[in-house]
Amino acid sequence: MGKGKKVSIIGAGNVGATVAYSLAMKGVCHEIVLRDRNIDVARGKALDMSQAANAARMHTLVYVAEDASDMAGSDVVVITAGSPRKPGMSRDDLLIINAEITKEVVQDVKEHAPDAVIIMVSNPLDVMTYVALKESGFPKERVLGMAGILDSARMAHFIHEKIGYGAGQIRASVMGGHGDDMVPLPKFSTVAGVPLTDVLDEEEILEIVERTKHGGAEIVGYLKTGSAYYAPAKSTAIMVEAILKDTKQIHPCAVYLDGHYGHSDVVSGVPVALGASGVEKLFEMTLSRGQKRRFAKSVDSVKSMIKVLSDKGFFDDLKKEKK
Ligand code: NAI
Ligand code: 2OP
Repeated sequence: MGKGKKVSIIGAGNVGATVAYSLAMKGVCHEIVLRDRNIDVARGKALDMSQAANAARMHTLVYVAEDASDMAGSDVVVITAGSPRKPGMSRDDLLIINAEITKEVVQDVKEHAPDAVIIMVSNPLDVMTYVALKESGFPKERVLGMAGILDSARMAHFIHEKIGYGAGQIRASVMGGHGDDMVPLPKFSTVAGVPLTDVLDEEEILEIVERTKHGGAEIVGYLKTGSAYYAPAKSTAIMVEAILKDTKQIHPCAVYLDGHYGHSDVVSGVPVALGASGVEKLFEMTLSRGQKRRFAKSVDSVKSMIKVLSDKGFFDDLKKEKK
């Protein structure tokens, strides 16, 4: 019998726990390990989910990582550990706090699960994926971020709301960073194979594009004390499943660009094929001049956040290690 598949999830909050639940209810893997700095909450959730797996007659075991070494042998590690923005805290303050958390937890992954594929979820997503890549020293194919599947799903939902038919048959496309500058691509979106541009007029499409860009904020506006987690978790679970089952399915994911689309040393969302080794192929689409410009703007905003970290000496340890 082959080795059972193991997934570790660091950060058992709303998104992390829902990823675990989604994987456990589908029996996608054999073991799920939950790690959180609030260990009792992680213990409670692991117990609850293991009982749910029994109710569902699924074989997946969910348990808590009492120690980082419990993540050993993971095929995939999902990182959702992060701190929410508190009153008086600037975006840059939060950027630094979450970068420090990412750095800390990635050290554990490096030590205990050196062969895993890392899927980053914590925000700001593209920058945290960059931090995880640099801090882990893993090959770029094994560190990726979740956002494109979520943003595309949001766009598909808004298209459906507008036209009122085609549920489940809408394929929407979004590339770029997971922020206000993300790049929804109506020209690459279809309803049951019919181009979106033949289904809706320009004004309607523009409305959908704007709503997609602010899809996360719309939900925060309702929840007030937290952000979305069902669609983010399902989107993450889709990536985990494609990797564990080596499906080679193509999804938009945040990955390291090394000259791709004319950009280097930055992370952004582009279509990639997912398989056992992580990113198996990166697809370069032919973009119009306007799409290229919007993509470049999105990449620049990620680069400026990386620069904030760099200017504060965040990557200095790595430079010393290299010497
Ligand atoms: P949450 O606050 O419910 O969960 C975060 C968890 O991380 C908490 O349980 C906390 O105890 C844990 N944590 C913090 N520091 C830790 C450390 N050093 N080690 C272990 N655990 C630690 O937040 P939620 O809603 O689950 O969101 C998690 C992150 O994902 C946030 O940064 C959020 O902005 C981001 N997010 C990203 C999305 C995307 O599309 N990429 C979509 C939704 C959320
Ligand atoms: C979202 O888009 C907060 O990034 C998170 O819902």
